Amino acid sequence: MENMHNVGVVGCGYWGPNLIRNFSALSGCRVRCVCDMCQDRLEHMTRLYREVGVTRCFDDLLGDDAIDAVAIATHVNSHYALAKQSLLAGKHTFIEKPMAASTAQCHELMELAQRLGLQLMVGHTFIYSSPVRKIKEIIDSGEIGDLLYVSARRLNLGLFQRDINVTWDLAPHDISIVLYLFGEPPISVSCHGKAHVNPGIEDISMLILHYANGKFVSIQSSWLDPQKIREMKFVGSKKMICYDDTETNEKIKVYDKCVEPPPHYDTFAEFHYSYHYGDMYSPYIPQSEPLRVECQHFLDCIDGRAACLSGGVEGANVVEILEASLQSLRHEGECIPVNGNGNGNGNGNGRQKHHRPPAAEGMLHEANFL
Ligand SMILES: NC(=O)c1ccc[n+]([C@@H]2O[C@H](COP(=O)([O-])OP(=O)(O)OC[C@H]3O[C@@H](n4cnc5c(N)ncnc54)[C@H](O)[C@@H]3O)[C@@H](O)[C@H]2O)c1
Repeated sequence: MENMHNVGVVGCGYWGPNLIRNFSALSGCRVRCVCDMCQDRLEHMTRLYREVGVTRCFDDLLGDDAIDAVAIATHVNSHYALAKQSLLAGKHTFIEKPMAASTAQCHELMELAQRLGLQLMVGHTFIYSSPVRKIKEIIDSGEIGDLLYVSARRLNLGLFQRDINVTWDLAPHDISIVLYLFGEPPISVSCHGKAHVNPGIEDISMLILHYANGKFVSIQSSWLDPQKIREMKFVGSKKMICYDDTETNEKIKVYDKCVEPPPHYDTFAEFHYSYHYGDMYSPYIPQSEPLRVECQHFLDCIDGRAACLSGGVEGANVVEILEASLQSLRHEGECIPVNGNGNGNGNGNGRQKHHRPPAAEGMLHEANFL
């Protein structure tokens, strides 16, 4: 027989209502109570979900023994305190991305959840989306050859945040996708950005993830762009994938395009790249709401039916990259090492002299030749 879960949701601003809608729609689950400091939001929730309890006090939610799981959709700086209270109250806990404001906080939450035997999960929504899963399938099949680099752009006008910069707001999506697809963290990151609207809070940024094997990921984030762009390109040695999440249909296009340097050459005259132009196809992608899949996954993990794809370790790995990005930003784009085990870079002073990924050495050679 299916277990019945009673979920409490804290934070009913922009994103929380999506969690409430999705948890409410799952069989074996009901949203018992929602919490927000803002009375207007609670009144709005009551109009939408008459059967759901509302409270302005998080302790009411924690004190309700019938509630076995709590989902947190408040601003980032409150995640750690709320999640800690939730775990200490014996609730399985779901935290929206990014997991917390530091890797140290992530670690403490992971250890607490482990010690108390509770499920901890982070809302890395895109890894539950059909297009991203399709891209993983294509990359893992070897169809595009060796993955050379990824370029991601997540741009629009707003929503400006007051407690975090644009990298912390938007890049967790791209970072979590890349970590999911690559199955390994980068060795270092560098980041540039600029604050145009609110002093000290970057509204545009360019984050680079460097990998040990030369793979390279660029992630551009912006709240200050005239167009809404949600795009990732995966360039392989044989083929290339374009993923446009703003498309209703055909979100993924696979291009049979690549370029091959000549096997031997002695002079510039003999040096000709061979460009390959083939067909493009757009694979069929089943329609499903990623958040619904994610919420179901949380319940499956609680019930022991699934191993968590975005638990504390994955959450901490994303936060470690975000922390390093901020350090890099404050030091004019310097490369900051990351160790990818969610531990952060030790004393928090992990700056190192400019690190050049191995592949870049070869690139210099060709640049000189040309
Ligand atoms: N997974 C996704 O695709 C996705 C998309 C958007 C936002 N998010 C994440 O969701 C979280 C919330 O973002 P948002 O845009 O909805 O923020 P928001 O500011 O619109 O809403 C936050 C709400 O939390 C309430 N709140 C804050 N602290 C509280 C507390 N201690 N007790 C009770 N209520 C409290 C506020 O009153 C507000 O209504 C963030 O972590 C954000 O990164 C995730």
